[in-house]
Amino acid sequence: MKAYTPQTFAHLKGLDGISDAQLAEHFKLYEGYVKQVNTLNEQLDEIVRKGKPSGTNPTFAELTRHLGFEYNGMILHEYYFSNLKRAADPAPAKGSGLAQALEQNFGSVDYWKADFQAIGGMRGVGWAVLFQDPVTARLVNNWISLHQDGPPTGFKPLLVMDVWEHAFMRDYKATEKAQYVQAFFRNVDWQTVERRLNERAAIRPAAA
Ligand SMILES: [Fe+2]
Repeated sequence: MKAYTPQTFAHLKGLDGISDAQLAEHFKLYEGYVKQVNTLNEQLDEIVRKGKPSGTNPTFAELTRHLGFEYNGMILHEYYFSNLKRAADPAPAKGSGLAQALEQNFGSVDYWKADFQAIGGMRGVGWAVLFQDPVTARLVNNWISLHQDGPPTGFKPLLVMDVWEHAFMRDYKATEKAQYVQAFFRNVDWQTVERRLNERAAIRPAAA
């Protein structure tokens, strides 16, 4: 299987409340996920080629289970980095397709934001994600535990917020996650979120 090459996110500098040092460390962690996806795929491929794939082979089973964690670690970070930018607008533009979709699904942009931020404040490591179900066009906020537990199948990520401690603990204390969530919202690239809403698949700068 062809190995994935990590993406770079060189444009991400000078954010408000998320330092360049924090981002540099986070990019390294992302690259680690890409590397692990490649390693697991190689190891599983080798087992298959040796004629040993079996649900009762503990090595095969554990590597396979772990692949979901590493794959989503790779993919969610690609969405996360690419929905941030410097000098961002404070909110989706009034009357934009995104603002209208949030109003229709949550009552108002403020109700949506309060829900999303509350999810981000939940205890434990994970992600807050605004998804669209492409089949019904409904928007939902969702919690993902670790990287692999929770994404509704086939739903399209529109806005992805990393709330693992590694996303903010260079800049904030462990007890200051709420401050990081506020900082995240000062750097959201709303145009990218709206583009994802309008695309059939939410296109991201993907390791390929
Ligand atoms: Fe992360």
